[in-house]
Amino acid sequence: MIQIEKLRKVYRARGRAVTAVDDVDLDVREGEIFGVLGRSGAGKSTLLRCVNLLERPDAGRVVVDGQDLLALSGGDLRRARQGIGMIHQHFGLLGSRTVAGNVAFPLEVMGVPRAERAKRVAELLELVGLSEHAKAYPAQISGGQKQRVGIARALAGRPKVLLSDEATSALDPETTASILELLRDLNRRLGLTVLLITHEMDVVKRICDSAAIMRDGRVVESGRVRDLLLRPGSELARGLFPLPAANVRPGTTVVDVTFEGDSADKPFVSTLARTYSIDVNILGGAVEEIGDTRIGRLRIELPGDPEINAAQLAHLRESGLTVEVHGQAPAYEESLADGESVAHGESLAHGESLADGPAPVDGESLADGPAPVDGESVAGGAAVVHGEAAQTAEEALS
Ligand SMILES: Nc1ncnc2c1ncn2[C@@H]1O[C@H](COP(=O)(O)OP(=O)(O)OP(=O)(O)O)[C@@H](O)[C@H]1O
Ligand SMILES: [Mg+2]
Repeated sequence: MIQIEKLRKVYRARGRAVTAVDDVDLDVREGEIFGVLGRSGAGKSTLLRCVNLLERPDAGRVVVDGQDLLALSGGDLRRARQGIGMIHQHFGLLGSRTVAGNVAFPLEVMGVPRAERAKRVAELLELVGLSEHAKAYPAQISGGQKQRVGIARALAGRPKVLLSDEATSALDPETTASILELLRDLNRRLGLTVLLITHEMDVVKRICDSAAIMRDGRVVESGRVRDLLLRPGSELARGLFPLPAANVRPGTTVVDVTFEGDSADKPFVSTLARTYSIDVNILGGAVEEIGDTRIGRLRIELPGDPEINAAQLAHLRESGLTVEVHGQAPAYEESLADGESVAHGESLAHGESLADGPAPVDGESLADGPAPVDGESVAGGAAVVHGEAAQTAEEALS
């Protein structure tokens, strides 16, 4: 429904050029909810504003519902933009107009006749559960209700696409949940495609079918949420299943195992312990309902170095599990020695800003350059080397 190709937006101010969106490709399928995550300044809002041409990209293509927006002008462009609704963090309501008046506003701009307008406003207010507040003014309703007005207004032109820029970040958790539920409901009932920006992992977990992570204007990870979570080294997985920094004791193998659906019902830890007569130590983990499936991530410790556990690791992989082996301490020291520590420090805050709680601090997902990965040859799969810094989200963001 939305195809973004090689999109680039450069801001020039006071002799400085900032590449806010840098060569971004994104494909949002019809009827899905697509979440874009990233730390402040990553270029999320700019990307979104390029989708409805509030910002004119410097290069690339934006195709919405089969129409190449940059090739349109005049009335064609106006009509295409009517097919794209947008909601904002701070609602942007007109304080001098009632709830009904705010929803009527875009219809007036579109030149919809009065009688039809009134009918449509009533429909829209019904859709977002605000019929009883039609005559109230924005100052007289709650934040959640204001966002419902924002949503009703965005849907006035019967758009196929809704863009949402941090629409819930000014709301408390309960209200956030109800707005997310409303978006999910509208997405299903109207077949509405939603492209949303958020910094809350919870939003992705609750309603997104697909997601992308942006950093420094680029998309560093994108795809269906389920696929991303099962991909070794996924930043999304680290954000959704925060595990503390791994402390790999010498003579042990620390493994992060991601499992979903069927494999979530199989007792793989006890099977592993029984089959190989070893003690498996559980270091941490979480299970989440993601869409219709259960996905979990467990960190386990096996006795012996990764070389010794080759068969055990192969067994886990053959059971359909995603397996990431943590490297040993020397690998981390090496990575510091070859000058990557600076890149790490910078990107640590990024990973953390995506996490809800105490965040995972890992070498691989957070490094910008070649990752300090070790153990790949040993384990035959993707390996992750954990650094030692364990910061909280608050520390990283301060
Ligand atoms: N109008 C503008 N003029 C100049 N620079 C801009 C403009 N808008 C954004 N930028 C710069 O572009 C970069 C991306 O900004 P953008 O607002 O897209 O980030 P964001 O990911 O939405 O951040 P946040 O999470 O804080 O909303 C930043 O470096 C920002 O300073
Ligand atoms: Mg923004």
